[in-house]
Amino acid sequence: MQPTQHFASDNYAGICPEAMTALVAANAGHAPAYGEDDWTRSVSDRLRTLFETDCDVYFVFNGTAANSLALATLCQSYHSVVCHEMAHVQTDECGAPEFFSNGSKLLPAQGENGKLTPAAVREVISRRNDIHYPKPRVVTLTQSTEVGTVYQPHEIVALSACAREHGLRVHMDGARFANAVASLDVAPADITWRAGVDVLCFGGTKMGLPVGEAVVFFDRTLSEDFAWRCKQAGQLASKMRFLSAPWLGMLENDAWLRHARHANAMAQRLAKGLGAITGPQLLFPVEANGVFCELPQHVLHGLRERGWRFYTFIGSGGARFMCGWDMQPESVDALLADVRELFA
Ligand SMILES: Cc1ncc(COP(=O)(O)O)c(C=O)c1O
Repeated sequence: MQPTQHFASDNYAGICPEAMTALVAANAGHAPAYGEDDWTRSVSDRLRTLFETDCDVYFVFNGTAANSLALATLCQSYHSVVCHEMAHVQTDECGAPEFFSNGSKLLPAQGENGKLTPAAVREVISRRNDIHYPKPRVVTLTQSTEVGTVYQPHEIVALSACAREHGLRVHMDGARFANAVASLDVAPADITWRAGVDVLCFGGTKMGLPVGEAVVFFDRTLSEDFAWRCKQAGQLASKMRFLSAPWLGMLENDAWLRHARHANAMAQRLAKGLGAITGPQLLFPVEANGVFCELPQHVLHGLRERGWRFYTFIGSGGARFMCGWDMQPESVDALLADVRELFA
């Protein structure tokens, strides 16, 4: 039997019911365009309540645009952005952060388990301070990280303190912010503005929305011209209500956290199951909704032959298994059964 669910990406999942209901409800009659509608206003207010602060909120179509435009806002073209060497902005955005900032350079840093540390940031920014080198301006961190780990609140506080000390702003790529909040069980404010984050790209797509991410400016002085930046980049949705309304369903009764907790639990189930088989080696601690595992070629090949989809882009033989909001325990168990058989 071919699998009906896949582990390649949390983007493979469809729209969660709460978002779908809110989307359909927004499809009634006429409404002002370009974000002047009641849904957009109301979701922005809900996000201000969620973050317990008077932040500025913008909706864009995807994570690449959210990150790139947010970073471009924080930088001049001669600035640089310190990121982890595995950061999505560095590896998977086709140079968009540099493009939209007219050339701000990304400076990759190393760090265990996909995380930056103050020491790594300091090492990168103290390499040079002459006129010939781009001036460090931003630290960007990904929460949860590209390898399924999560920054603890104190780690973010320490990174922000280091950033402030050196005159840098702090950007957070929160494509999987929901999974991090669910994993840490903290108030969203505690791992964002209260921990020193200036701008958060809050991922909607991976947590179950049809499309769209929210760019949340905690320092409102930074967002002055952001609307124009979005428009110029082709990221101002005319029918904005269809980007924003699904957030209403998602935020109602904490559906976003319920789904993220479920996705995280499915990753734990998978990790536990893999741990019980002799052979697979987990590559990183499983703290959110992704499991990274070293598997021999014949197992990878066998899984693909059986119809499973997953990525193998980290290290040789490393496979990434992502769990979306709708991942069923039966799908996890079926994958595990195939891994077990292939190792037998
Ligand atoms: C860490 C991270 N940031 C951002 C994104 C957003 O990318 P996209 O432009 O595909 O929405 C992704 C998607 O895979 C991601 O994993």
